[in-house]
Amino acid sequence: MSKILIIYHTLSGNTEDAAHLVAEGVREDKDVQVTVKLAREAGSEDLLSCDGIVVGTPDYFDYMSGMVKDFFDRTFYATRDDVRGKPCVTFVTHGGGGKARDSLIRICDSFHFNMITGPVMVQDRPDEEEAEALRNAGRMLAAAIK
Ligand SMILES: Cc1cc2nc3c(=O)[nH]c(=O)nc-3n(C[C@H](O)[C@H](O)[C@H](O)COP(=O)(O)O)c2cc1C
Repeated sequence: MSKILIIYHTLSGNTEDAAHLVAEGVREDKDVQVTVKLAREAGSEDLLSCDGIVVGTPDYFDYMSGMVKDFFDRTFYATRDDVRGKPCVTFVTHGGGGKARDSLIRICDSFHFNMITGPVMVQDRPDEEEAEALRNAGRMLAAAIK
């Protein structure tokens, strides 16, 4: 069975809600197993063993959250030869700015992920339109790893 890993960080729950909405979209495909993990609890093995990766971050001070950056820092050397071309979806929750988007795009570029869609931008807690965009990103990633 194909595997998708969703990693995220959250303080007040917005990005966690968004992560579970992406997972909902993935789960519509019964052939794909999805795991949702806090970035601080995920490591190189998780990244290496999944067929597709979703990274979700809040915007903190116009940058991705420190915990998501820490995940990338910890895994870069151990995975960089093996994750080139790995299908990836990203999303950012923000309070009205959203400049963290740029940092996420740059770092995914350094890993040479195959960007399927995103960053999906969500203002604070996902509304119904944003929820559907997140589910759709999950569906797109599930389709891409077939
Ligand atoms: C420390 C801190 C810094 C923030 N800085 C920004 C910012 O620079 N731009 C922005 O649009 N929102 C900013 N926000 C708002 C959050 O990005 C937004 O509320 C987000 O959805 C929080 O996600 P979470 O509930 O998963 O922690 C900040 C929030 C916090 C707590």
